[in-house]
Amino acid sequence: MQFSILERWRIWRDRKLASPQFQRWAADFPLTRWEASRRARGLFDITAGFVYSQILYACVELDLFNRLANGSQTAADLATHMGMSPIAAERLLRAAVAIDLLERRGENRYGLGRLGIALPGNPGIAAMVKHHRMLYHDIDDPLALFRGELGETELSRYWSYACSIDPAADGDQRVAEYSTLMSASSGFVAEDALDAYPLSAHQCLMDVGGGEGRFLLQVAKRWPNLKLKLFDLPAVVERAAAHFSTIGLANRIQVHGGNLKADALPKGADIISLVRVILDHNDDGAMHILRAVRAALPLGGTLLVIEPMSETPGAEPVGDAYFGLYLLAMGSGRTRPPRELKAMLTAAGFDQIRLVRTRRPLQTRLIAARAA
Ligand SMILES: C[S@@+](CC[C@H](N)C(=O)[O-])C[C@H]1O[C@@H](n2cnc3c(N)ncnc32)[C@H](O)[C@@H]1O
Repeated sequence: MQFSILERWRIWRDRKLASPQFQRWAADFPLTRWEASRRARGLFDITAGFVYSQILYACVELDLFNRLANGSQTAADLATHMGMSPIAAERLLRAAVAIDLLERRGENRYGLGRLGIALPGNPGIAAMVKHHRMLYHDIDDPLALFRGELGETELSRYWSYACSIDPAADGDQRVAEYSTLMSASSGFVAEDALDAYPLSAHQCLMDVGGGEGRFLLQVAKRWPNLKLKLFDLPAVVERAAAHFSTIGLANRIQVHGGNLKADALPKGADIISLVRVILDHNDDGAMHILRAVRAALPLGGTLLVIEPMSETPGAEPVGDAYFGLYLLAMGSGRTRPPRELKAMLTAAGFDQIRLVRTRRPLQTRLIAARAA
């Protein structure tokens, strides 16, 4: 194999950097010490990441973050609450302090740490952490997962539509759990997307794959005159409709149940949103959905694609590592970089496609496109 000069230089550099002598030298030398220890720590964090996740999981299961939201508590009180010996409790608390979930306050008290502070106000994070038990199980043998040797995974059962031939036939018991999780975790996504793309210029929004309607509830609050429609699987929109009735919004939001890969979408909206929908589908399914959306929009209508995307600067591990494996375990879909989504949108009949800046691109990116 003939390598370019650049590649030969890289091979020389990699060998140099990999050698134990060089690493020892870099760890001692004042100008490289900081970078050497940053890299060692980075590699160790990846090696130990699954342990950190289990510490977080244990704290969430024990409801520690909500418990400490009103102030610090003693290790003895926490041990009683956690049903553990004081020695075991101390070990868990110290572990949580070490990864910034908790903070040691004084000799013997614990409070919320720099990272743990986000949890009490966001029940969606705890719900995501809890449902990761299934993901731990599915990635237990990552090579079997990548080689497609696992058969039915826990996540593919959980997201019942992911591998189903007829998802519209699913009843409440199959959609309830994931719909609840989606509702719990949609707050930030809706807030960031709606701050980035105000809807004042529109008359009627249809949220396709809108789950129990959390996104629409935020829209309803901000734009009281906008007409609203929700499209999702029949069992999911039934849940949404029941909720809209309870809170007195049944007359404001029209619900439509169906299979967006088989049925035509209702017309009448001048803007359609797909929030965390396209990433769930393989390329054929995703293209089918984009074309169905195009067919439902009038010429000049708007589509918003709102979801985490791959190749997001500063958030590469989220799109490519986390969602990469998550969606593989789920059995359908992938995160796509904006350039790929733009190409798909063009092929589906959209123009004026642009990436709109959002506050937290790590979890919410937004592409707006016009029906051409
Ligand atoms: C990941 S959830 C996102 C829900 C919501 N947009 C949110 O962000 O919270 C994907 C949604 O798409 C719906 N969905 C998936 N496949 C569908 C299909 N073939 N027809 C209709 N809805 C579908 C699911 O029921 C689910 O509510």
